[in-house]
Amino acid sequence: MAAITLDHLGKAYTADVTVIRDLTFDIKDGEFMVFVGPSGCGKSTVLRMIAGLETITTGSLSIGGRVVNDVHPKDRDIAMVFQSYALYPHMTVYDNIAFGLQIRKIAPDEIKKRVQEAADTLGLNPFLDRKPKALSGGQRQRVALGRAIVRNPSVFLFDEPLSNLDAELRVHMRAELSKLQRKLKTTTVYVTHDQVEAMTMGHRIAVLRPCGADPKVSNLTQVGTPMEIYDTPANLFTARFMGTPKMNLLKAKISNDGHDVLFYGIRMQVSQQFRQAAEKHKGRDVIVGIRPEHIGAAHEVDWQSNCSITGAIEILEPLGHEVIVHFELQGETVSGRLRSHVSLPAPGDPITLQVNTEAMHLFDPVSEQRLS
Ligand SMILES: Nc1ncnc2c1ncn2[C@@H]1O[C@H](COP(=O)(O)OP(=O)(O)O)[C@@H](O)[C@H]1O
Ligand SMILES: [Mg+2]
Repeated sequence: MAAITLDHLGKAYTADVTVIRDLTFDIKDGEFMVFVGPSGCGKSTVLRMIAGLETITTGSLSIGGRVVNDVHPKDRDIAMVFQSYALYPHMTVYDNIAFGLQIRKIAPDEIKKRVQEAADTLGLNPFLDRKPKALSGGQRQRVALGRAIVRNPSVFLFDEPLSNLDAELRVHMRAELSKLQRKLKTTTVYVTHDQVEAMTMGHRIAVLRPCGADPKVSNLTQVGTPMEIYDTPANLFTARFMGTPKMNLLKAKISNDGHDVLFYGIRMQVSQQFRQAAEKHKGRDVIVGIRPEHIGAAHEVDWQSNCSITGAIEILEPLGHEVIVHFELQGETVSGRLRSHVSLPAPGDPITLQVNTEAMHLFDPVSEQRLS
């Protein structure tokens, strides 16, 4: 097992294109760390740098306390699973799993034991004699996992391993992978663009974005537990990226006395959490963030509301257990959540909903950082 330390890690594929800038954080021994961010932000690049498949341009990378910048991939004691399972089509499941051990000259008895254990863990026993083409997508993905597990590495690296599976199987494998990691307790770095995967699987999440050309901007926007990231997004990027439906973000102002947030004619009392920050920012522009689950119908909500808003319904999205309602307010689309299906209003109708202002988030519109 091993902790991983990224210390001002950077990568430029060419002299003028920096893809990774100034990544600094630790992944603890035994931790399940998820890198999440939009496509193209550099997640695979970081993972491949940890694996040793990409050179490191700046900074240093340590695994288990040893700087590995110049250590060959095969000497890093890691196993990587990709989105494309990359199985050998002409080999049986057994041989696919055993292959990595065979080339490392592990004793045949030991190989047999480890493959058997992995097959038990992953439910692959009935398929050991089959070729990959006779397996479903989920079974193939399990073979790819088996190949990583038998190596008994210090670190697992996963690059979007579930994105080729259909929705139902993805949910199932999400739970299986989490269970497997809890059992093996192997330090794991898991890359995904899917914020639901990040929220449900990670002990902690690192939210990444493209670093762009500005030499002061890092790819890292925030590291924290899923609930920290969801409840206290550190900046507008994280606020926008994490959560479905998306957080409402509205251009507003702090009142001159610092007690209220003003959005056109609407007054929202500043929440407990932001009292001090609002005092410092009185009279200034802010972005107020409210998640859709904190905007609801008066008879359905369990918060004491001191702010109601009225707008014209644009779209209703019935999800079965709830209905997401998007409505127009002062030219902006705002999303709220209804619980009951009876007597739903229709698009074009006016709707009045209550805002849980205690659950507000405030951001500086210029720096895009959460007010503190
Ligand atoms: N081998 C390469 N040479 C040049 N640019 C690359 C190479 N690999 C990736 N990139 C660029 O680096 C950026 C990050 O890519 P990647 O790490 O694959 O992102 P992600 O995995 O988050 O989608 C992209 O703009 C991509 O085009
Ligand atoms: Mg990628």
